[in-house]
Amino acid sequence: MTIGIIERYYDYLPVTDKTPMLSLGEGNTPLVYAEHLSDALSAHVYLKLEGLNPTGSFKDRGMVMAVAKAKENGADAVICASTGNTSASAAAYAAKAGLNCFVVIPHGYVAAGKLAQAVLYGAKIIPIEGNFDQALEMVKVLGEHYSVEIVNSINPYRLEGQKTAAYEIIEKFGHSPHIVALPVGNAGNISAYWLGFKEAHEHQLCQSVPKMWGFQAEGAAAIVRNRKISNPETFATAIRIGDPASWKLAVKAREESGGIINDVTDDEIREAYYVLAEKEGVFCEPASAAAIAGLYKQAKVGEIPKDSTIVAILTGNGLKDPDSAMQKNSEPFKPIQATEEELVKNIFEVEV
Ligand code: F0G
Repeated sequence: MTIGIIERYYDYLPVTDKTPMLSLGEGNTPLVYAEHLSDALSAHVYLKLEGLNPTGSFKDRGMVMAVAKAKENGADAVICASTGNTSASAAAYAAKAGLNCFVVIPHGYVAAGKLAQAVLYGAKIIPIEGNFDQALEMVKVLGEHYSVEIVNSINPYRLEGQKTAAYEIIEKFGHSPHIVALPVGNAGNISAYWLGFKEAHEHQLCQSVPKMWGFQAEGAAAIVRNRKISNPETFATAIRIGDPASWKLAVKAREESGGIINDVTDDEIREAYYVLAEKEGVFCEPASAAAIAGLYKQAKVGEIPKDSTIVAILTGNGLKDPDSAMQKNSEPFKPIQATEEELVKNIFEVEV
């Protein structure tokens, strides 16, 4: 039997005996020690592989809650705006729950794997000539006038489900880490983690809470600049957002935890994306690598306390975005003749 986060964290979630025990097996993701990063940053760095959730991103934790509650409340359709992962997750859980799903996406800015998921799960996909922020505005207006349940993170059940990752981290360590680093887009995840850690502390599951370190892409760093960005741009399309919905909650998480929200450049994100793959064997998507880029940035200015325990949240699976990965190949592949001689020549770069 699949046990998901609703069943596992039943006591900590706003569920009732009428809430369907919906699950695709989300949660309980690995926390992997990162030797290379730990050496490089003089800290103990762990990677929480949220890309191993059923649809390949952290969104499944919140989505299973939002869709289960929509079902409980008698909805027959859900809708979301998305840079890709939310739509993949909404489409999957809606399929499982027997609901219709509508997704509104910025045309041309959703990674191939994410779009393929929404297509195959059977969502109705509506691409717009606009960005995520515009898509979310449209969805909000629609949600007011029609009986479709919005499953973006403005739906409070999303944060409730997402907070379970904080409980898992505490369970694995027996206490809180010093720092939790994560990418910030629409700012739901950083808000949810903070909610989870605070609650776990109230339930006396941990004696302290971590500092929340969030990182935005430089071209989409509204919270860092303290102003909306009307034309957000970044290679990490998942966090290409200029007016985060949970802006205030994210600022609260930063302030209450004594944390930071900083920005990282696309080059820094790309470098971290490669380091994770080449040195840690972890293939995440570009947005997830922003967390690691941020840690490098803080280390450079001496902001990482020596030997501190850090958990970096790798929010999405690298397979979602094959095009970004293939950009690393500077030249297209050229096949060789299928002979042993040619193979030896190519591998050892010698004439035989
Ligand atoms: N990482 C990934 C892989 C994401 O897909 C997102 C957001 C984030 C980080 C940022 O998380 O929005 O909670 O601050 N993706 C949303 C989507 C916007 O539509 O899939 P956040």
